[in-house]
Amino acid sequence: MVQIFSFHIGQISTAQCLGININQEIKLPNKKQTSKKMKNMKKDNSKKLFVEACKYIPGGVNSPVRAFNSVETDPVFIKKGKGVTITDVDGNEYTDFCGSWGPLILGHANDEVISEVQKVAADGLSFGTCNPLEVEMAELFCSLVPHADMVRMVSSGTEAVMTALRLARGVTNRRYIIKFNGNYHGHSDSLLVAAGSGLLTNNVSSSKGVTEKTVSEIIVLEYNDLDAVAKAFDEYKDEIAAVIVEPVAGNMGLIQPQDGFLKGLRELCTENGSCLIFDEVINGFRFYCGSFASVCGITPDISTFGKIIGGGMPVGAVCASKEIMEHLAPMGEVYQAGTLSGNPVALAAGIKTLEILKRENPYPQMAELAEKVATEINDYAKEKNVAINVKHFMGVFTIFFTNKEQLVNLNDVKECDTKRFAEYFRFMLDSGFYVSPSQFELNFVSAVHSEVEIDKFIATVKAFIDTL
Ligand SMILES: Cc1ncc(COP(=O)(O)O)c(C=O)c1O
Repeated sequence: MVQIFSFHIGQISTAQCLGININQEIKLPNKKQTSKKMKNMKKDNSKKLFVEACKYIPGGVNSPVRAFNSVETDPVFIKKGKGVTITDVDGNEYTDFCGSWGPLILGHANDEVISEVQKVAADGLSFGTCNPLEVEMAELFCSLVPHADMVRMVSSGTEAVMTALRLARGVTNRRYIIKFNGNYHGHSDSLLVAAGSGLLTNNVSSSKGVTEKTVSEIIVLEYNDLDAVAKAFDEYKDEIAAVIVEPVAGNMGLIQPQDGFLKGLRELCTENGSCLIFDEVINGFRFYCGSFASVCGITPDISTFGKIIGGGMPVGAVCASKEIMEHLAPMGEVYQAGTLSGNPVALAAGIKTLEILKRENPYPQMAELAEKVATEINDYAKEKNVAINVKHFMGVFTIFFTNKEQLVNLNDVKECDTKRFAEYFRFMLDSGFYVSPSQFELNFVSAVHSEVEIDKFIATVKAFIDTL
C-alpha cells in the first residue's frame, strides 16, 4: 500500500527539480538504449517550463505522479492531442497509451465531443442552478447502468468515493469500511491508509496530515483474500458499513478478481447488512458501455464512476438504488454538495462520449488489440528469457517486469523490477510512445488505436527487450 500510494501522493523533491540544468540532455538509462530506433528528441521547452513550474507549483505538478519521479526523468509538457497522438511543447509527437489516465476512450479531441463542448460553452460555463443537461445525463446514465435508479453527479472520482462512504455509513449507521491493499480510491483522508500484514492491523496513514483516528475506521485487507474479509466480518460484526473494491484492480497495475472473489464479497455484505461499493472510476464504461457490475453479474449497493463519464472533463458520479440514494440531501440526512456539480460544459462532454460509445461499441476491437500486445510481448520476452509478464483484460494492459506468473495482490506486484520499468518508460518515451509513467498503472487502448499503432508499439517494446 505504501508503495502504491507513493505514486499518487509521493513526496516530490522541489530542490531536485529546481536544480535542473536546462541545457543538460535528458539522461538515458544506459548506452545500449541510444540505439538508432530512438528519436533524438529535443526537450528544451519542457525543461524550461518545468523549472518555472517548480517555482510556483509544489514539485512543479498539480498531481504527484506527473512529476515522473518513479521513472527518474523530467516530465514532458503536452500542448495538444488528436486521436492517438499527443504533442509536446517541443513539437515531439507521442502515441498515447495513458489517455489522461483513462477518460479518453475516444482518443484526444474527438470532433463530436469538442463541437458539443464548444456549443454548450458558448451559452455559459456555469450557472450553479439546475440545468437540462443534468437531467439528460442522469437519464442516459441510469439507462446504461441498470442497478442505478438514481445518480448524483460530482466533479471527481475522489468526491464520488467520499460521498459513497458517507452514504454507506449514513444508511447503515455503522463506522468501519473494508478496503483492499493496492486499490486506490482517490485522496480523501480516510482512504489514504496503509496497513501491515495480518487481518486487523494498526492502521498507519500513508500521508502526513491524515490522523490515526481517521484511518482507524478503515480495515485494510489483501485483494482477492475472501477469507480475510470473512474474518473481519466475524471480528467486527454489525460495525462494518461497507466493503469498497475496485472490481478489476487498476491501481497496482492490472490485477483481476479471482473466481468467486466479487461474488463472495456480495454474499458477505448481504449476510452482514453491509453495503458493497464498487469503485468503477476506472472500470465504468471501460470494458463495456455501462458498468463492470453488468459484465460480472454482481450487483453492488453503491457504485462510483468518473473518468470516461466526463469524456476528459471533471466529472464523477455516485449511484445506487432509489432507497439508498434518497438518504442524500436534500431528501435525506447525508450531506453532499458542489458548486460545480452537474456543470453543463463537463456534462456535455460526458453525454456525447457515452452516446458515441453506445453507438460505436468499440469494446471488442480494443480488447483484441490489448490481447495482441500481451500475446506478442509475452512470447518475445519468453524467447529472449527476459522477466516480463503482460497482463491484459479487455482494452487495458500492464507490462509487469517480473518472472512471477500469478499476480493476485499487491504483495505479488511489489516484487516487480521498478528500475527496469523506469528504463522501459524512458526508452518508450524517447521512441515516441507515452505509456503510463508507473509500473503500478494501466495502459489504455482507445477506440482510435488501430493495428498500425499497436504493431509499432509491440515492435518498440521488442526493441527495448533487445537492449537488455
Ligand atoms: C478507482 C479509482 N477511484 C477513484 C479515483 C480518484 O479519482 P480522481 O482522480 O478523479 O479524484 C481514481 C483515480 O485514479 C481511481 O482510479
